Amino acid sequence: MPQTFTVRPAGQADGSFLGDMVVEAANWSQGGVRPRHEVLTHPDHSRYVSGWMRSSDAGFVALDAHGEPVGAAWYRMFPRTDPGFAYVGTGVPELIIGVRPIWRAHGVGRALLQSLCDHARAQGFARLSLSVERGNFAVSLYRSEGFAVTQPGHGRDTMVKRLR
Ligand SMILES: CC(C)(COP(=O)(O)OP(=O)(O)OC[C@H]1O[C@@H](n2cnc3c(N)ncnc32)[C@H](O)[C@@H]1OP(=O)(O)O)[C@@H](O)C(=O)NCCC(=O)NCCS
Repeated sequence: MPQTFTVRPAGQADGSFLGDMVVEAANWSQGGVRPRHEVLTHPDHSRYVSGWMRSSDAGFVALDAHGEPVGAAWYRMFPRTDPGFAYVGTGVPELIIGVRPIWRAHGVGRALLQSLCDHARAQGFARLSLSVERGNFAVSLYRSEGFAVTQPGHGRDTMVKRLR
């Protein structure tokens, strides 16, 4: 049973692990078994990690007691001409989060979210956005961390947290 974890800022070398977490996020539902290469070659998903780490990217990685990564949350900025699922406006980064299955429901996701929101606030951002498919319990986590639905979509909602 996993117990203790630590959180550190994400670095350039974390790109591959962040790719794993994009796959987890894409496969969040029980029936989700899209292979890694299929997820990461689709622009809807690859856009969140391709070319990691850009100067405007930021994120956090959770590590188990052996220093192995078990989860990550990060944000990335997209232009109006090439928006992500959660685009709400210029200058609002989009958040992505994933935790390895065995580590879920142990507080890792909440700790990563809090670290990332604190960092975004310190960087001067006024808002963070995310996109979540309807039915994903992650919505209740996001709500409890101050995110609110701003744009109901087809099968997925955009949520925004005000940071100041
Ligand atoms: C969503 C996710 C990132 C949350 O991370 P996590 O480490 O499991 O979350 P936490 O343990 O911090 O739990 C946060 C809250 O969610 C609730 N929760 C956790 N697992 C749950 C589950 N299986 N069902 C319902 N609620 C759950 C907990 O009650 C917890 O609230 P609490 O602190 O009041 O107990 C993680 O479960 C995950 O990677 N899921 C698959 C990928 C995904 O859906 N990504 C998000 C796409 S938008």
